[in-house]
Amino acid sequence: MIRKILSHLVILTLCLASCSTPSKQEQVEQRLTGTIGQKAMVSSVHELASEVGKDVLANGGNAFDAAVAVQFALAVVYPEAGNIGGGGFAVIRTAEGKSDALDFREKAPLAATETMYQDDNGEVITDLSRIGHLAAGVPGSVDGMVKLHEKYGSMDWAQLVQPAVDLAKSGYVVEERGAANFMRMQEAFARYNGQGFYLVKDWQPTDTVWHKDLESTMALIRDNGRAGFYEGAVADLILAEMEEGNGLITQADLDAYEAQWRTPLIGHYKGHRIISMPPPSSGGVALLQLLNGSANYDFAKMGHNSAEQLHVMVELCRRVYADRASYLGDPDYYDVPVDMLLSDQYNSDRFNTISMDKKTSSSEIKEGEVEIIESIETTHFSIVDELGNAVSITTTVNGYFGNKVMVDGAGFFLNNEMDDFSAKPGVPNQFGLIGNEANAIQPEKRMLSSMTPTIVDKDGQLLMVVGTPGGSTIITAVYQTIINVIDHGMTMQEAVNAKKIHHQWLPDLVLVEKGAFGTVLTDQLKAYGHEIQERSMLGKMDCILVREDGTLEGASDYTRNGGIAVGY
Ligand code: GLY
Repeated sequence: MIRKILSHLVILTLCLASCSTPSKQEQVEQRLTGTIGQKAMVSSVHELASEVGKDVLANGGNAFDAAVAVQFALAVVYPEAGNIGGGGFAVIRTAEGKSDALDFREKAPLAATETMYQDDNGEVITDLSRIGHLAAGVPGSVDGMVKLHEKYGSMDWAQLVQPAVDLAKSGYVVEERGAANFMRMQEAFARYNGQGFYLVKDWQPTDTVWHKDLESTMALIRDNGRAGFYEGAVADLILAEMEEGNGLITQADLDAYEAQWRTPLIGHYKGHRIISMPPPSSGGVALLQLLNGSANYDFAKMGHNSAEQLHVMVELCRRVYADRASYLGDPDYYDVPVDMLLSDQYNSDRFNTISMDKKTSSSEIKEGEVEIIESIETTHFSIVDELGNAVSITTTVNGYFGNKVMVDGAGFFLNNEMDDFSAKPGVPNQFGLIGNEANAIQPEKRMLSSMTPTIVDKDGQLLMVVGTPGGSTIITAVYQTIINVIDHGMTMQEAVNAKKIHHQWLPDLVLVEKGAFGTVLTDQLKAYGHEIQERSMLGKMDCILVREDGTLEGASDYTRNGGIAVGY
């Protein structure tokens, strides 16, 4: 209903629809409706990357061409999480309604061992899986983009990589966010790359940064595709960096790396089809479990962010994240019981224990002790083209700037994705997530992820492309955003902007965005038995909604972390 009223109201805004890139001020003013496009849309964390994608689309490229260009552009202008030294997942829906999923997740090096982050007493060595050379998995992004382009691309590869070469060459103004992110990494940058490292300086928002070595690396990828990264000069620089810092990645690892096409997970929610990422992401399984449980509740009647709705969501999350810790890992190495976890019978048994009066005691779900979640990183972008092809990509080096090691001479950061493995059963990673055998380290295995790139359609028509960074909080942010649109009739931008909560079973806390709830709501939640803790932000979504009139609404989370949707 709200969407219907708004769709009339936004006729005015449609005058702005032809505008490709609203100014930042306009972006804030339009926050209830996001950016409106008649034909195509790109939503990403960085204006320059979104513009690169839009240009590809406007020049006849399809959504998958644009995705390749945006992935490489982000690797230049958003080195915090955009990358060629990391990995990610792509969920695809073609204009004909065919779905697909690409897994370009990093892999453990061949020399990795189950106890590589433990000391002689079996204690996990602090930070060894998080910072420095040993934290790096074998990167998957370049092979992922090559495979995406081979199967779905329509434009010349070199044309799609060229914008990244150009951006590295021209440099870009870091602005407030970039300066602040560089500044908070100064100590780590200097420790792992030397005092003379070009990113070690007093950064101001007006400064321009040139990633000079990255320009040559991007040019090699442009000219040689996969071989430009996994062989030759760039590979040699990666191997030299590994030797310098006692890392594990060898030429054999680079040769062996292959991104994998996987069968996407398909679920249904209140008349909608949900297409999401299968293992080694936990995201799709967890999202579909949450939606399966949610189908039994009338959230619209309960009201958005009412105590009743939040209690139900929290109770669902506690059960689903407990399953995540027990059952999920790389399906190539562990028999992940996806069918069981997604079966109606399993979920109905699992969720039947939810009481509308009181939270279920943790011991009845399962129990353990973990530290609080520390960071919300990674990045996401969503693209829809003129034909109606859609792609949802979440990509990461894990922590901001990954393991903080820039490959000397090659100009890109390596990931610290090895921390997404369970370093030891029951010991939490940087997101406070625990795991067991399913996610234990093995050579060439992919570490479990929470990334949840997702596409929703209804009656055979594309409806939504969604995703976000945020480590363990990705799943719950995607879940709430989908509910916000489907159950509460929000516009895409309202759904993105809406305050979010998170619960991941352990620690047994409801994380709530700062200032989101007043004392009345907080007290109501406490009355159910929930313990509440504030977080500065949850979710930084980049999404697209196909509106009832067929126009596209791109919504980037400008208020939380910058980002911009551009369309035409
Ligand atoms: N590195 C965050 C994730 O994959 O979940």
